[in-house]
Order: sequence, then structure tokens, then C-alpha cells
Amino acid sequence: MQKRHLLVAAAAALVAGMLPAAAQTFPSRPVTMIIPFAAGGPTDVVARIVAESMSKALGQAIVIENVAGAGGTTGSTRLTTAQPDGHTIMIGHTGTHAASVALYPNLRYHPVNDFSPIGLVNTNAILLTAKKTLPPNNLTEFVAWLKANERTANNAHAGIGSVSHTTCLLLHAIIGVKPQSVPYRGTGPAMNDLVAGQVDYLCDQVVNVAPQVRAGTIKAFAVAQQSRNAALPDVPTTTEAGLPAYQVVVWNAMLAPKGTPEPVIAKLNEALRAALADPNVKARLTELGADLPEASLATPAGLRAFIEAEIAKWTPVIRAAGVTASN
Ligand code: MLT
Repeated sequence: MQKRHLLVAAAAALVAGMLPAAAQTFPSRPVTMIIPFAAGGPTDVVARIVAESMSKALGQAIVIENVAGAGGTTGSTRLTTAQPDGHTIMIGHTGTHAASVALYPNLRYHPVNDFSPIGLVNTNAILLTAKKTLPPNNLTEFVAWLKANERTANNAHAGIGSVSHTTCLLLHAIIGVKPQSVPYRGTGPAMNDLVAGQVDYLCDQVVNVAPQVRAGTIKAFAVAQQSRNAALPDVPTTTEAGLPAYQVVVWNAMLAPKGTPEPVIAKLNEALRAALADPNVKARLTELGADLPEASLATPAGLRAFIEAEIAKWTPVIRAAGVTASN
């Protein structure tokens, strides 16, 4: 019996001793980055810009894998089952790692306890956009139109709990309407249908909106924050446009599976911070209207505390709106 205990203790010590060595050689092969939404949408766009630069710092390719479905919770669940060795990571966001807690009664992960945070990647303004042919031409007219057409208006979004769903939910609660919703696997495909005029409106992240607004293929009524977005300086804020209560900023965060060794997380975080300091990354994200995070949030501890605060912020908002993934 005593001999067996000794053997178990020796094996544990061996594994513990091997971890820093494994971290030293990390990454020993390409890293897979799970994006829980369709290709071409805001999460995918930001991820590809950051991953390209991070891969230089890590000395290995980063392969993007789009695992879309259920408002981003399918891809997030997938990460929790991956080997916690740093070779599989993901980009989650306000929806997958904060709003999901209140929206999904049977969520198969806890956004903090089942992940090893790496760092906040960026924040994004939300813009209220509409198809080019929608009659209203400003936010006041849109609110009136939505109230008058509540039964037939259709709101595109990226699935229950996604950013586009949650942020339009907030808008609907302020206006006092419950229109039709049309779920997609990401706002990449939702935006394609908005441009084609198949759906009426979409609350989307600026990085997915700026190119379309500049090209004149959609309308943007307002940006839901205090100041105008530098990428779209002609679009008024919700305060300027008459709906000051509608304020929302969302974020993207990089995470690894729970149990990923701390030295591996440190390497990934170092590569993330190097990418965020890369002038090319900064220029590309800025052109799309994204904002880089405060330095304290681009850290594992900063991100953990931030996600906890965001869950506490979004849970009562969603409960008050009376929506869950099952209704
Ligand atoms: C996407 O990448 O498609 C979005 O982040 C979806 C969303 O949450 O609205």
C-alpha cells in the first residue's frame, strides 16, 4: 500500500516537473484558434488580424477554425473539451462569455471557471444599421417605424445570446417592442442579407459595419456610445440622435481551456500583447473602428475580473427583458 502511494507521488512529481519544460517548447505545432461564429463576421475579422501577428511572436501558424452555432456557445463549449496545452484557444465575446449565462439555462460551461483567460483583445462600438431601402432616414424615424411595424419588422442577429441579439434586445426593451428575429450563424452572413435587402435591421459591431456604411450599401442610424466612432465620423451618437438611453460597448477576449499551464498562458499573453502593440494591427483595427483594451485588461487576471463584472452587468439586463434561449 505504502509502495503504491510512493509510486503515485513520484508520478505526480514527474508530471509537475515536466510542465515547465512543456511550456518551454510551446508551441510545438500550429495553434488552433476557435471562432464561435461564421467566417467574415466581426469576431473572425478581428481574430485573423490579431492571429497573423501573434503567430510571428509564437513562431507557429495560428489556424482559424469557425465553429458556429447557438449564439457562439457551440464553439465555446468545444474549447472546454480541448487538450489544455495551449494549442487550442478561442476568441469569445460579450455574448458567449457574459450574456450567455442569463440566456442559456442549460449552458454547458461557466465563462470563468471552465476557461483560462489570456487577455482582452479589443472593444467594439455597436451601430444600429438597416437595409438601404428601409423608409426611415434617422434614429427618430426608425423608432417610429419600428413601433408602427412591430409585427412585420425583422431583426437579423447571430443567434440567441450573440452580441447582435443581446444589443438589439436592449434597444427593443428601451423602445418597448418585440419584433420578429431572424437568427444567422454570425453577422457576416446576416450582413450579406442586410445588404441584399432580405432583412430590415441589425445591431452590429463597428468592425463589420464600417466598410458597408462607407460603401453606401446599408444605412447606419447611430452609434450606441457617448462619442462618435473615428471610423465613421458622420454617424451620430444615440445621444445626438435622440435615444441617449441606448449605450452599449462590447468586447472580444482570448481564452484557453481550463487547466492550461500558467507558463503557456504567459507565452500566449505575451504574444497577444505583442500583436496589440504591432503598428500594422493597430492601424487595421483602428481603420475598422475597434478600440484597443487598457493594458490592465490585456492580462489573464484583468480579463478574469472583467468577465466576472460583465456577467454581473448583463444578467439583470437580460432577466429584466424576460428572454431565454428557450423562448
Ligand atoms: C460574429 O462574429 O458573427 C459576431 O460576433 C456575432 C455576434 O455576436 O453578433
